[in-house]
Amino acid sequence: MRYVPLDTPKPISKIGLGTWQFGSREWGYGPDYEQRAAQIVRRALDLGVTLFDTAEIYGFGRSERILGAALGDDRAKVVVASKIFPVLPLAPVVQQRAVASAARLGVAGIDLYQVHQPNPVVADTTTMRGMRALQDVGLVGEVGVSNYGLRRWRFAEAALGRRVLSNQVRYSMVDRGPEKDLIPYAEQAGRIVIAYSPLGQGFLSGRYDARNPPAGAVRRANPYFLPENLERGTELIATLREVADAHDATPSQIALAYLLRHPNVVAIPGASGVEQMERNAAAAEIDLADDEHAALVAAAHAFRPVTGLAAVPKLIRARTRK
Ligand SMILES: NC(=O)c1ccc[n+]([C@@H]2O[C@H](COP(=O)([O-])OP(=O)(O)OC[C@H]3O[C@@H](n4cnc5c(N)ncnc54)[C@H](OP(=O)(O)O)[C@@H]3O)[C@@H](O)[C@H]2O)c1
Repeated sequence: MRYVPLDTPKPISKIGLGTWQFGSREWGYGPDYEQRAAQIVRRALDLGVTLFDTAEIYGFGRSERILGAALGDDRAKVVVASKIFPVLPLAPVVQQRAVASAARLGVAGIDLYQVHQPNPVVADTTTMRGMRALQDVGLVGEVGVSNYGLRRWRFAEAALGRRVLSNQVRYSMVDRGPEKDLIPYAEQAGRIVIAYSPLGQGFLSGRYDARNPPAGAVRRANPYFLPENLERGTELIATLREVADAHDATPSQIALAYLLRHPNVVAIPGASGVEQMERNAAAAEIDLADDEHAALVAAAHAFRPVTGLAAVPKLIRARTRK
């Protein structure tokens, strides 16, 4: 495993584990997944993974409970990251919700406590006042944000009066927006971009095609899995396979290695089984050559999916056909 080259209280692994899947029916993994989830966490620990990401909203607290129980006594050795869903993120609410998350996780302190998304009405001034108080009493280690643009991330830092260590954003070969300004800022200021959906929710695995889309409500709502977009992704997947073959790796591993080339980026793929966790952890060791990277950039650039409003009627049609 490799770690982020930054001065943090505990090392942060370049590959973490995302746990939205834990306790969340909408991924469609069935009742025995809870047991598998615990095995995934234990295996991740064996492989040197130190970043475990959850949120109070995942499975309405179930993800935090499953993760905390699976980590057991190892909780103190790793970076446990959770998130407040900011419905009304006033300072006192932030404090109460952190206490509830810590109780579900079974930890004395949350190593990284993140604001899940910017609240359009409540300013970060009051939210960060709550965060600062939590840091001062030791219930929170580092503060993070999620789905923030650069301006608001920096505003949050000014409001906190300390570093907001990380911004967790959608970043993968099919969503490269963070390369514009968030990653350069992280590199210049010693911050971290945490890449969520780093495999495009499995799109980049090459496992799915127009005749074989994934099940589950989450991915039925994701336009990348429209038959048309799966078709349009064929060339990108072919390039991933080509690079993967040269490394004796899989397309998913190459898609992760592409992100991890940036020193201040970590990725937190979810996993439906232990073997995926093993492969994802191993991806941290893959070094892409410059020409391989260039080929991946070109292939990602050439992928033009139907997204946004244009995708909505197609998503509804795909859903009603089921
Ligand atoms: N902050 C936010 O707003 C936000 C939003 C979304 C997610 N997140 C966080 O980010 C984490 C990851 O994002 P995500 O789950 O949306 O997407 P993801 O990590 O891109 O995709 C996860 C899915 O990809 C497949 N997969 C994983 N490893 C694989 C491998 N080695 N080979 C082939 N397939 C593999 C699995 O599905 P199958 O095996 O079923 O195909 C798995 O459930 C979440 O768990 C959550 O913690 C945060």
